[in-house]
Amino acid sequence: MSEEIIQVPTSSRAYDVICGRGILDTLGERVRPLVKGSTLLIVTDSHVWPLYGERVADSLRNAGFAISIFAFEAGEARKNLQTYATCLEVMAQSGLTRDDAVIALGGGVVGDLAGFAAATYMRGITVVQVPTSLLAMVDSSVGGKTAVDLQGGKNLAGAFLQPALVLEDVETLATLSPALLTDAFGEIIKHGVLAGPALFNAIADHPLTAPLFGAADCAALDFDRMATIVAANVRVKRDVVVIDERESGIRQTLNLGHTIGHAIEAASNYTLGHGACVAAGLAILSRGATALGLTPAPVTRAIARCIDAYGLPTNTTVGAEAIIERLRMDKKRHGSNVNAVIVRFLGEVEVRPMEIGQFAELVRAGIVS
Ligand code: GLY
Repeated sequence: MSEEIIQVPTSSRAYDVICGRGILDTLGERVRPLVKGSTLLIVTDSHVWPLYGERVADSLRNAGFAISIFAFEAGEARKNLQTYATCLEVMAQSGLTRDDAVIALGGGVVGDLAGFAAATYMRGITVVQVPTSLLAMVDSSVGGKTAVDLQGGKNLAGAFLQPALVLEDVETLATLSPALLTDAFGEIIKHGVLAGPALFNAIADHPLTAPLFGAADCAALDFDRMATIVAANVRVKRDVVVIDERESGIRQTLNLGHTIGHAIEAASNYTLGHGACVAAGLAILSRGATALGLTPAPVTRAIARCIDAYGLPTNTTVGAEAIIERLRMDKKRHGSNVNAVIVRFLGEVEVRPMEIGQFAELVRAGIVS
């Protein structure tokens, strides 16, 4: 067992992200000092519960907790108000009080939904995030964003609730599909661009997914290297959210590639993975920004090479006009402006308010037709 502890001292709560190998069974002893009460609700899904549920429940029971379980059907389609309402009812039926806590065991859908239920039940109770997907480990479990989707769009009902603890056992990635693992590298490459050449090159020079191409599962992963990369990603995100918990400033840089990425994701009717859309968004944004004289061409080339090496898209078949139309509906639009995150160099980005018309020009220049 090896691990790294990353402290996240946000203004609303200071907590640890523990990242390592073979640490899942230590969850109970780590949660015990953080929760006054004696009852926990494990929120998970139909995919993750059979894989890790009993181990997690045993660890928590051994630490003296009474456990209830809410396992909903896996998939983004269930991250909705109905599942959220059922989760709240299960919390009430389980007798959870303000001293008790929710354990979110699963990927981003579980973490977002369980976090939002915890944020609103009795006006807010403790949540512990136990992410089991790579995307959730490097991104959604850290930083306190919680949400469910509405018919009008993704993540439209939500709240900020920093977790009391995030426990990331990279060995749980062994059961992830290679497609989902690869998809997460869209966010990881984004973090590399934000962090600078050291992390970017560490990711770009030796693609972690390479041994998996053609393999049946992720059990062939280099878990030590994976733990190092995951911890580095958590540190990148930590350094941003401790300064700007509520996305009024620097946290917007985490949206690098997302404005175009979200539009591609929505246009694909969410059939394309989030990470793949972010990767395509990042490549298109950089090419467009290079055409507008904002991003140096060698930086754009390095980003596209890295994305390509991971088997992720650097372009889209969604037309520029369809993307621009979606931008007009983006929830992060500010009046007639979008805050474009522009790469100046690896490790240096700028949040630049742009008129939608100018951003549209960037998008048209960035798409290779
Ligand atoms: N995923 C971007 C953020 O947490 O702010």
